[in-house]
Amino acid sequence: MTSTLTRPVEGLTDLVDGIRDAVAAHTDWAVTARLVAEQLREHLPGPDVLTAEQRRGSPDDYVAHTLHVEPDGTFSVIAVVWRTGQRTRIHDHVTWCALGVIQGVEHEELFDADLNPIGVSDNHVGDVAGFAPPGDIHRVRNTGGTTAISIHVYGTDVSRLGGTARRYYD
Ligand SMILES: [Fe+2]
Repeated sequence: MTSTLTRPVEGLTDLVDGIRDAVAAHTDWAVTARLVAEQLREHLPGPDVLTAEQRRGSPDDYVAHTLHVEPDGTFSVIAVVWRTGQRTRIHDHVTWCALGVIQGVEHEELFDADLNPIGVSDNHVGDVAGFAPPGDIHRVRNTGGTTAISIHVYGTDVSRLGGTARRYYD
């Protein structure tokens, strides 16, 4: 996933403060993901956290907009915009992640280490989840009729790393 750092984003202060406290607890990744997911549930922004232009997405591929990078590099907040039918490759992650859907529907498929399907879920507006490697191999697709948007929090500085996928499984 590529991402572009855009303008400073208003309306994320409470969320970012809450994530900062959760991350400062310095517990293991699975617990951090759960604590951050709780903050997302409590402070999930609306689609207007993005500009109208950003909310349109792109005909080429799903687009990630970096909304916040914590100065000490411990976490980043990203919005991902998917038009109908757009999807990720099968991948896992370099760190913990928490995410919440703020528009549309995202269909997620989970896989085991041998790439056998082990579960699916449809995530709607307000649905929040947190996960941490290992066991985080998945693929996400917009199966709805409208553009989908979700907020992702990753436990790293995405601007330095250039993305959060550890590996692709094609
Ligand atoms: Fe992912």
